[in-house]
Amino acid sequence: MCGIFAYLNYLTPKTQQEILDFLITGLKRLEYRGYDSAGVGVDGCDTNAHIELIRQQGPVDLLKEKIEGMKESLQFDQVRDVHVGIAHTRWATHGVPSEVNSHPQTSDDTNKFIVVHNGIITNHDAIKTFLKTKGYKFISETDTEVIAKLIHHVHEQNPNVNFRELVEKAIRQLEGAFACCFKSSVFPGECVAARRGSPLLVAIKSQFELNADYVPVQYSAEDPNQNMKFHSHGTESPVVQRKKSTAFRVDSGKGSTSQISPCNPGDPVEYFFSSDASAVVERTNRVIYLEDDDVAAVKKGVLSIHRISRSLDDEPNETVLREILKLTTEIQEIMKGSYSSFMQKEIFEQPESVVNTMRGRICQQTKVVTLGGIKDFIPEISRCRRLMLLGCGTSYHSALASRQLLEELTELPVMVELASDFLDRYTPIFRDDVCFFISQSGETADTLNALRYCKKRGALIVGVTNTVGSSISRETHCGIHINAGPEIGVASTKAYTSQILSLAMFGLVMARDRISAQKRCTEIINELGRLPELIQKVLQQDQKILEIAKKLYEKRSLLIMGRGYNFATCLEGALKVKELTYMHSEGIQSGELKHGPLALVDSTVPIVMIITRDQVYEKCLNALAQVIARGGNPVLICQEGDKEILARAKDDMFIEVPASVDALQSILTVIPFQLLSYHLAVLRGCNVDCPRNLAKSVTVE
Ligand code: UD1
Ligand code: GLU
Ligand code: MG
Repeated sequence: MCGIFAYLNYLTPKTQQEILDFLITGLKRLEYRGYDSAGVGVDGCDTNAHIELIRQQGPVDLLKEKIEGMKESLQFDQVRDVHVGIAHTRWATHGVPSEVNSHPQTSDDTNKFIVVHNGIITNHDAIKTFLKTKGYKFISETDTEVIAKLIHHVHEQNPNVNFRELVEKAIRQLEGAFACCFKSSVFPGECVAARRGSPLLVAIKSQFELNADYVPVQYSAEDPNQNMKFHSHGTESPVVQRKKSTAFRVDSGKGSTSQISPCNPGDPVEYFFSSDASAVVERTNRVIYLEDDDVAAVKKGVLSIHRISRSLDDEPNETVLREILKLTTEIQEIMKGSYSSFMQKEIFEQPESVVNTMRGRICQQTKVVTLGGIKDFIPEISRCRRLMLLGCGTSYHSALASRQLLEELTELPVMVELASDFLDRYTPIFRDDVCFFISQSGETADTLNALRYCKKRGALIVGVTNTVGSSISRETHCGIHINAGPEIGVASTKAYTSQILSLAMFGLVMARDRISAQKRCTEIINELGRLPELIQKVLQQDQKILEIAKKLYEKRSLLIMGRGYNFATCLEGALKVKELTYMHSEGIQSGELKHGPLALVDSTVPIVMIITRDQVYEKCLNALAQVIARGGNPVLICQEGDKEILARAKDDMFIEVPASVDALQSILTVIPFQLLSYHLAVLRGCNVDCPRNLAKSVTVE
C-alpha cells in the first residue's frame, strides 16, 4: 500500500553516500502517500559482502539522521561501480509500526535475501507454518517476512537457479496483493521486482538517448516441481502458462534503427524501481509501468521482463510488449496522479480500497467471512447484552450506516453514540456490553476517552481502525483493521466506506451459524464481490455531478434528505458539504419532514433527496411529493433506470447509482456526495485537502 524505491547503478560509479542520498530522496518523494516507518538495504562495507539494513519507525528524516550517524561504519566515501539499494516506506497492515517490522524484511541473520513489499499476503500464515517446519525462525510480525524466508528456502532447494527464477518460484506461492523488490548477497548487482495488484514501475537512465520504445515480455519456462502450495481459504490459485525465455536489453541507442537488441552487457546504465513516478522524475523520464504478474530483472545491467502467466487478453503467439513511456510531468503533478487533491485521489481509490478491506477475509467460493482480529471473541460477543458503536464525525456516521444490518444479523440491540455525548451523559455501561470504537486514525481523543471509560467498567472493547499500532488498536481487546491505506485528505472518504464494509463483515461473521440468515448473507457476500465494479460505475458520474455542482455552488445552504439505510448518507453528505465548502448543510431523515424541516422548503432552497428501492421506498416517494408540493426542486439520487423517480427529475438534476442489496446501498449513495462536496469546494475556491479550522486527526477533546 505504501512506497517502494530501489536504485541500481551499473558501471556508473557512485559513492555509498550518493547511493544513500538517492534512496532517501526517493523515499522523501513517496512520503505524500502516507507511511509509519521507513528503511533501506545497501551493501555493507566488510569483505564478506553482507547486506546492511537500516530501518526506523517514524518519518524518513529520522531514518536519514540514523544513516548519518552511521557515516563511519557505512563508509560514506567508498565508491561502488555496480550496486543495488532498496528502500521502503511502510503503512503497517500486519504487525505494529516498529523497527523490526519495517522493511526491508530479511531471509536470515546474514541478510542473504532482502525484500521490500507493498500490499498484503493473505496466505502468509500457511507459508509461515510450512517454513517453521523447515527450521525458519520469524522475528517480525509482518506478512512480508515470509517472502524473504520463502525465497531463501527456494534457493536452498535450487542452488543453481538464477535470481529471477527464484523470485518467480517464490511469488507463485503468494496469495493476496504485492509489489516487491528483491536484493541478494548471492546475486550482487542484480535486482528483481514483481507485482500483482499493487503498482510498480521501472525507470531507466542511460547516458545515451534510448531509441527503444518497448521491452518484449518473456514467458517463463514451465516449473516441473511445483510441489509447494499454500492456500489461505483455497482462493486465488495462480494460473500458470509458460514458455522458454531469453534475455533482452534495452538498446542504448548507439546501434541502428533496431529498437531492441539482444543481451549485450557493458554499457553504463542506471535503473530505478518505484511504486510511482514521483520518486523517479527528477532522475529520468523513461519509465515502464509493470503489469500484474510481470517480473522485471536486471542482471549485468540488462533489463528483462518476464511473466509467469499469459494474460487472458494476450493473443497466443503474439509478442507482448511493455512500452517505455516518456514522462513529461512535473513532480507535483505526479504525486497526486491525475488528481487535483488527495481527497479526490482517495475518492477514486475506493474501488481498490474496498478490495483491500475485504482481502483475505471473504472467500467468494465458500461464502465464508473470517475476521482474524475478532474470531476468538465471537462466542463472547454473541452472549452480550447489547452492542454499542461509538465514534465521532464520519466514524459515527459509519456506525449509523451499519446499525440496521447489525440489528438484523446479530439480533442484538445496537446503540450508536457520539463519543463526546456518551461521555457527557455518564452513560451506564455493564460487563456484558460489547463496545465498538471506530476511528480512522485510531487516535481520536473523544473516542479514546470513551474507550477508557467503558474498559474501566468491564465491557468487551472492540476497535475498528485504519491505523495499526494506534492507541485505539492497542487499547482495545480485539478489533478489525480496515486496511483502507493511508488517508491524507482531512475529509474522510475511503475510510468511511471501508468502515461500513468492516462492520458489515462483522455482521456476516455473527450470523454465520444461523441457518435462517444464510440466504441473506449469501446475497450480501455476492454483492460485496461486485462492490468495486459498482463503485466504479458511481465514479463515472463525476462529470454529471460537476454539472450539478455548478448549479449549486453559489447557494448558501443544502438540505439532504433520505431515510432507512440512506439516512447515514444524508448526515455524512451534509458533513462533507459543511467541512469542505463552509456552506450550511443539513442531513434530514425524511420521516421527520412534517415535524419541522418542511417549513424550510420552498422553490429557492437547494435540496438533494436519496430514494432507492428498499423497504422505505414508498415513504420516500411521499416525502418527495411533499417537497414538490411546496415548490421544491430537489436533485434526486436514485437507482439506475428507476423510471418512477427519473420522471420526477427536472433538467438533468438527478444522479443514478447502480442498484445493490439494501444493506450496501449506502456505500454507493455516499460517493455522489463525496464528489459533489469536492466539486462545490473547488468551485468555491476552498482548500479541499485542508479545510479551514480542521485537523486530520483530532487528538484533543
Ligand atoms: C491479523 C494480523 C496479522 C496476522 C493475521 C493472522 C496485524 C495488524 N494483523 O490480521 O499480523 O498474521 O491476523 O491471520 O497484526 N485489533 C485490535 N483493535 C483494533 C484492530 C485490531 O485489538 O482496533 C487486533 C485484533 O484483535 C488482532 C490484531 O489487532 O489481534 C490484528 O487485527 P486485524 O489486522 O484486523 O486482523 P487480521 O486481518 O486477521
Ligand atoms: N503488509 C506489509 C506490512 O504490513 C506491507 C505494508 C505496506 O504496503 O506498506 O508490513
Ligand atoms: Mg474525521
